[in-house]
Amino acid sequence: MKKVLMLMVLGVSALVAADGAKLYGAKCAECHGVDGKDAAISGKAIAGDAAALTKLMGYKAGSFGGDQKVTMQASLEGLSDDDLKAVGAHVGKLK
Ligand code: HEC
Repeated sequence: MKKVLMLMVLGVSALVAADGAKLYGAKCAECHGVDGKDAAISGKAIAGDAAALTKLMGYKAGSFGGDQKVTMQASLEGLSDDDLKAVGAHVGKLK
């Protein structure tokens, strides 16, 4: 029983990690670069930002952002809170 639980936990975390990377590639890389270091559009690199999730939640809620926050808000359309968590964690891990 313990083994089964362990496998489930491992399976779920692997799934979340994979989704974050996949979501990032599909939804974010075009503007932020595959490595999160492209600052041409967003004005700054986001790679390794430990506060990425907080910022993403802020964009979604309308409580965070600069001159171009509308761009980010549009980019997050259709993403659930779980999606934001996965993609935020991925951004935090980019180097
Ligand atoms: C269409 C281009 C575009 C796409 C797609 C996009 N972004 Fe952005 N992103 C921007 C721009 C422009 C800004 C600066 C917005 C502002 O003025 O607040 C920004 C800002 C950010 C910031 C805040 C940077 C800071 O510290 O101020 C984070 C974090 C971020 N984006 C993550 C993401 C993630 C994760 C995705 C994918 C779900 C994504 N972005 C998709 C253009 C984009």
